[in-house]
Amino acid sequence: MNILIVNGPNLNLLGKRQTDVYGTCSFENYLDELRRRYPRHQIDYFQSNCEGAIIDRLHQAGFSVDAIVLNAGAYTHTSIAIADAIRSIEAPVVEVHISNVHAREDYRRVSYIAEACRGSVVGFGLDSYRVAIEAVVGVNK
Ligand code: DQA
Repeated sequence: MNILIVNGPNLNLLGKRQTDVYGTCSFENYLDELRRRYPRHQIDYFQSNCEGAIIDRLHQAGFSVDAIVLNAGAYTHTSIAIADAIRSIEAPVVEVHISNVHAREDYRRVSYIAEACRGSVVGFGLDSYRVAIEAVVGVNK
């Protein structure tokens, strides 16, 4: 399968940012681990701090990849435009959050994108991405 992981704002600082919440591992290191774990699958990666760039990437990949794993960061709680982009493409999108957004501030409980997504994985640390990938590839490692 061809899977695209899209990370939104501030997730370029994983490993350095609020390590008590998001851990000390950089996403690049975690991605190496994921790629080693799923050698038969193509896992591409895109990160941007800009809402429009995320939407452009969803449009670009959304008619060719098999699935998209999306951590929209804080845009999750604000972006009708990203929700509409998810609704506009063919590839199934899995919403991912590293932290348990339901156990934090009230505003993090609201996801504008959840309804447009195939499903959501929240609260398992970086392992949320692996669980999302498991969900889209099934047992076909
Ligand atoms: C996050 C949760 C969001 O509320 C926050 O704005 C992030 C990261 C997570 O992965 O836990 O940037 O999406």
